[in-house]
Amino acid sequence: MSDSPELVLATANPDKAREIAEILGYAVRLLPRPDALGEVDETGETLEDNARLKAVAVVGFAGAPAVADDTGLEVDALGGAPGVRSARYAGPGATYADNVRALLRALEGVPAGERTARFRTVALARWPDGREVLAAGSVEGAIAERARGERGFGYDPVFVPAEGDGRTFAEMAPADKHRLSHRARALADLAVRLAAGGDDRRATGPR
Ligand code: IMP
Repeated sequence: MSDSPELVLATANPDKAREIAEILGYAVRLLPRPDALGEVDETGETLEDNARLKAVAVVGFAGAPAVADDTGLEVDALGGAPGVRSARYAGPGATYADNVRALLRALEGVPAGERTARFRTVALARWPDGREVLAAGSVEGAIAERARGERGFGYDPVFVPAEGDGRTFAEMAPADKHRLSHRARALADLAVRLAAGGDDRRATGPR
């Protein structure tokens, strides 16, 4: 599509960048994040705050519109944790494996029926004049008793989507994850809003 918007990708996480490019396809022309821009501290209290922090940093650096997303895993038995702190659940510098281990430990003894959880993503496109389009997506599921599967990233080895067939996201091919995932839903919502938005790009807010 020649009139699809051109947006600089604000994520510095290569796993997320790969998924965003796979999901958006031709709906948006994605430009790579500038190498010279350092990591942005995700100090916000909400997913929307953090998505905006990343987008604002990239827009300011690149002088061009950008797309950012922020994701949290909300576990009901943990009162919604790790939520907005999902990346550093096991502490500063935590690896994906550290976070998964910490999550399984926190849920030790919690029975299957009480391990419900959801991924929630906020996606945000922002222009240099401050206009924004905001979108959101989520997927309901449960935390498995142990990690299963080698694909995906982050908490994928322990997340079993409720609309799936019992496999964790890490046991699914990328296309199967994208059919259900929080990120795919948020980005599909964003693409629709971008296509509908014209020049009035003020957000109507996440669902
Ligand atoms: P971020 O703040 O959007 O970068 O995401 C926070 C953390 O959530 C990441 O470091 C991952 O551990 C986890 N995460 C984000 N998206 C996914 C996903 O699609 N699957 C599994 N874990 C994810």
